[in-house]
Amino acid sequence: SVLILCCRHWQPGEPAVENGFIPYLGCALQFGANPLQFLHSRQKKYGHIFTCKIAGQYIHFLCDPFSYHSVIRQGRHLDWRKFHFATSVKAFGHDSFDPRHGHTTENLHQTFLKTLQGEALPSLIETMMGHLQDVMLRSDTLSPSKDHWEVDGIFAFCYKVMFESGYLTLFGKEFGEDKSQARQAAQKALIFNALENFKEFDKIFPALVAGLPIHVFKSAYSARENLAKTMHADNLSKRENMSDLISMRMILNDSLSTFNDLSKARTHVALLWASQANTLPATFWSLFYMIRSPDALKAAHEEVQKIVKDSGLIVDANDPTLKLSREQLDNMPVLDSIIKEAMRLSSASMNVRVAKEDFLLHLDNQEAYRIRKDDVIALYPPMLHYDPEIYEDPFEYKYDRFLDEMGQEKSTFYHNGRRLRYFYMPFGSGVTKCPGRFFAVYEIKQFLSLVLSYFDMELLDPAIKVPPLDQSRAGLGILQPTYDVDFRYKLKAGI
Ligand code: HEM
Repeated sequence: SVLILCCRHWQPGEPAVENGFIPYLGCALQFGANPLQFLHSRQKKYGHIFTCKIAGQYIHFLCDPFSYHSVIRQGRHLDWRKFHFATSVKAFGHDSFDPRHGHTTENLHQTFLKTLQGEALPSLIETMMGHLQDVMLRSDTLSPSKDHWEVDGIFAFCYKVMFESGYLTLFGKEFGEDKSQARQAAQKALIFNALENFKEFDKIFPALVAGLPIHVFKSAYSARENLAKTMHADNLSKRENMSDLISMRMILNDSLSTFNDLSKARTHVALLWASQANTLPATFWSLFYMIRSPDALKAAHEEVQKIVKDSGLIVDANDPTLKLSREQLDNMPVLDSIIKEAMRLSSASMNVRVAKEDFLLHLDNQEAYRIRKDDVIALYPPMLHYDPEIYEDPFEYKYDRFLDEMGQEKSTFYHNGRRLRYFYMPFGSGVTKCPGRFFAVYEIKQFLSLVLSYFDMELLDPAIKVPPLDQSRAGLGILQPTYDVDFRYKLKAGI
């Protein structure tokens, strides 16, 4: 029968299997409703590792943080490329970046490290700082006033400011001397349309990763293709001050791949998505929790004020040209902790590897389990992030959780009296760790520094509850709030 064909049989030495009740979906519905609760209950029943069938795929969940390294370090049994390349192709529709498929000889991983880290950072930081201030104070995106409060949703606010600034930082601005109003309006419309298309496409991202074809979603499909159209080489070549990330992408697509023009354009859409999809909700949670916690707001304000003052910078809303160097941004432990704590509570990225062959997975407690070729092994970091032994009162936001007694970064966390190597993983792990993570934290810090410097901000309802996480994206990164929270802001007096 169908049931027998689709349920695999447990073999001695393998992790316990749970097939779930529904033949194809397996445990997907239970997992989807509340992943953390589902995994906790299975961990209680089966121990450090168990297997669930989710949407046709057998996934081994490894729940012991001291065994994480056996999956994270780059072993010969585990493949990270297979899953990642396939996911990107499913979602964005470009040809495969896996060199084994023959469409490109590029080492994409290397390109990301080169264009997003090390020497690439200072110029990304500088460009972003300029755009953030343009968007907040010079353009008509916000038009804040000194005399009266503006009311907006915090997510809507973060979305507008970070999307436009991030987009311009990566993709540059159309060049030309023409500063006419018509042209400015056209530029603005391009960004506005990109934002709307991005939102429309991002909504169905989980469904695409789960394997549904994009053609099922007509408006999301046309949204993605509209984005791709703006990223054809002829359009991108009209832009200046583009990041290395995008200009190198253009060069390498042309020189090392056999992608056609559409496929090339779609690789840029993939990068737009990677650069925004997590950053936007991460910025929301950071700003929301900061405003909601008077202690956090005060400590953050003092930290930013001191840096601005010590470096002799002037906060002037009519000439918004604050600059913070990489070193200064590195020296903001309070903002760091505020952001980290916000991401601890909102991140739900699954770390995934695929078995290249049958092998024995060794756990920290001397146990070993048989894994079959093509099985997926997953780590689910919220298991760490919400573990009360690692983080006391794990559901509570404590802005200084990642600060030590000296007010510096805290990096010692324990489980069962043993120091943990892995306790905080919103950016993934090992070779697949997010290559944009340094820039991501810098840009959120820049954003917070600027709103703290230029604006007074308050929640409309200071006692408002924390909005629940939208679990439909569990596994894919930073979760969004299920609804927005209103706040009000105005320009600080005397700047
Ligand atoms: C991949 C998180 C911001 C570029 C990833 C992954 C995660 C992640 C979890 C996948 C890792 C894995 O599969 O194991 C985040 C979070 C961010 C953020 C939480 C913000 C708070 C950014 C930014 C950029 C970026 C700003 C670029 C400007 C990328 C790229 C990949 C990636 C290119 C794919 C890497 C690969 O497949 O080799 N990110 N990210 N990310 N991220 Fe980020």
